[in-house]
Amino acid sequence: MPTPSLSFISRCLLLSALFIHSSYADVGTAAQYGPPFLPTACFGGDASEFPSSNMFGAAGEGIWDNGAACGRLYEVRCISAAAPRTCIAGQTIQIKIVDRAVSSRSRPSSDATSMVLSTTAFRAIANSSASLINIEFQQV
Ligand SMILES: *[C@@H]1O[C@H](CO)[C@@H](O)[C@H](O)[C@H]1NC(C)=O
Repeated sequence: MPTPSLSFISRCLLLSALFIHSSYADVGTAAQYGPPFLPTACFGGDASEFPSSNMFGAAGEGIWDNGAACGRLYEVRCISAAAPRTCIAGQTIQIKIVDRAVSSRSRPSSDATSMVLSTTAFRAIANSSASLINIEFQQV
């Protein structure tokens, strides 16, 4: 029985990896914001919707979706940043969207990012002195 060539197998693996990648994950940027976390754009101002783990974030305009983003969960990992070794390797977090970045009371460390992470969430995946990181994220 002929065995499939190695290059055929690796082409299949590459194609399926590309397909899985483009089906689920987006690449973008994240800033961070600190307290006070006053609910503004989501949940009618109900702070009890904030997860007690403090793993949350504010939606950038690209994912805000006219408010439908409120309460959505995203898996986020840091992929790179301007300064080397900013990302904490192998760390993926899950955050809940609780606000809209453009109108959040506490201002983000950078404007116009895909999302803004709470200090707690940000420092779980990157050096907390960074103001902007490149991320891979997907809704879960
Ligand atoms: C975080 O970044 C700052 C500023 O670039 C640097 O001084 C510090 O050593 C870094 N911390 C870690 C744990 O890498």
